[in-house]
Amino acid sequence: MSISTASVTVNRKDVLSLNGAASIRKPAKAVRKAVFPVAGLGTRFLPATKAVAKEMLPIVDRPLIQYAVDEAAAAGIEEIIFITHRSKRAIEDHMHRAVELENELATQGKHASLKMLRQLTPSGIHFSFVRQEEPRGLGHAIYCARHLIGNEPFAVLLPDDLIDGEPPVLAQMISQYEQTLGSLLGDTVGVAAARV
Ligand code: UTP
Repeated sequence: MSISTASVTVNRKDVLSLNGAASIRKPAKAVRKAVFPVAGLGTRFLPATKAVAKEMLPIVDRPLIQYAVDEAAAAGIEEIIFITHRSKRAIEDHMHRAVELENELATQGKHASLKMLRQLTPSGIHFSFVRQEEPRGLGHAIYCARHLIGNEPFAVLLPDDLIDGEPPVLAQMISQYEQTLGSLLGDTVGVAAARV
């Protein structure tokens, strides 16, 4: 059911009752941006992470970071902002095309590998990289993205937490956000564990 006036039509679900008085809730702004804080030093995984970024450790056939990128793509994210560190250059390399490698695969007729390689960077997603000069904690890492986020709703994914969900967890959370317009936390037990 919808409620209509001469100038505006709103869906019933957009009308909230606050203290008995009806008020009209603004429609949700689409969540288009996601922040990936990856500047941590990964001390818990030493010695594996002495020279290799934690987010580049392989899970089956791909680095951990790829799962987070694929999850963001599946949720309709259009811009991923990596908060990174000088010791994490491999993440940036992984997200860019490797043209020489692509050419070599094409020359060798390895078309399946070439296709797989190109799919690593989903089309329609823009990648930005911001340096967190020193690891000053997760909150500070997210704060480093403020000039790219502006006043938009955004997602934060910690790529060192891998959660297998169907539909993927971020898509579930964005759907919840569109219902509630509140901040949501997801954890390894369930999605949208808390509304804050
Ligand atoms: P973690 O505490 O899990 O990562 O931070 P860490 O700092 O690498 O962990 P240790 O050293 O093993 O204890 C959660 C996420 O926040 C990022 C990390 O890269 C991780 O993805 N992070 C953490 C930053 O980007 N900057 C920081 O200063 C701290």
